[in-house]
Amino acid sequence: MKYLITYASATGNTQMLAQAVRDALPPGDLVNFGSTMMIGPHDIVEAKRAYVGFWTNRGTCPDAVAEFLQRLAGKEVFLFGTAGFGESQDYFDGILARVREHVPNSARIVGEFMCQGSMPSGVRERYERMLDDPDQETRARFLIENFDRASSHPDETDLENLKQAIERAR
Ligand SMILES: Cc1cc2nc3c(=O)[nH]c(=O)nc-3n(C[C@H](O)[C@H](O)[C@H](O)COP(=O)(O)O)c2cc1C
Repeated sequence: MKYLITYASATGNTQMLAQAVRDALPPGDLVNFGSTMMIGPHDIVEAKRAYVGFWTNRGTCPDAVAEFLQRLAGKEVFLFGTAGFGESQDYFDGILARVREHVPNSARIVGEFMCQGSMPSGVRERYERMLDDPDQETRARFLIENFDRASSHPDETDLENLKQAIERAR
């Protein structure tokens, strides 16, 4: 089955997942691989399935991914993404529900996967400054703990779980 893989990734986490998707699938059927602007209309016509990756921007996917998803009428769609937060599947499910709103009704979602992704060090520095404010200290501690948990992701286990989700959808 012909497929394409596309993604938006600002700092490389989602790109890492996209590469793992690529490694898990037969290279001969790959129509195109790259950021959403690298994928042309002919690629979409040729592919039966699109693997679409996103980083989480304010609770949903970036606009470029939303616009790409809208072009996938009649296609099979596999969504994968990373988020800075997300100890729970519930949190990921909320993001995925918002991303799914951009998928046309005639498309079929064949699989979904999300994991945590590290954030730039400047974010931690911002949280550290919040520690000085008694009103924000408790929240700052929570944010710093989450930041540190996220810092090792995506890890080998995430990539293995993604691979299994890909296998289940084949
Ligand atoms: C402007 C901005 C907004 C973000 N919004 C969220 C958010 O709403 N929820 C979340 O869990 N992570 C959020 N993050 C964290 C990123 O989604 C996370 O670090 C992701 O793994 C980045 O993926 P990338 O390396 O592929 O760009 C945000 C990051 C930035 C820079």
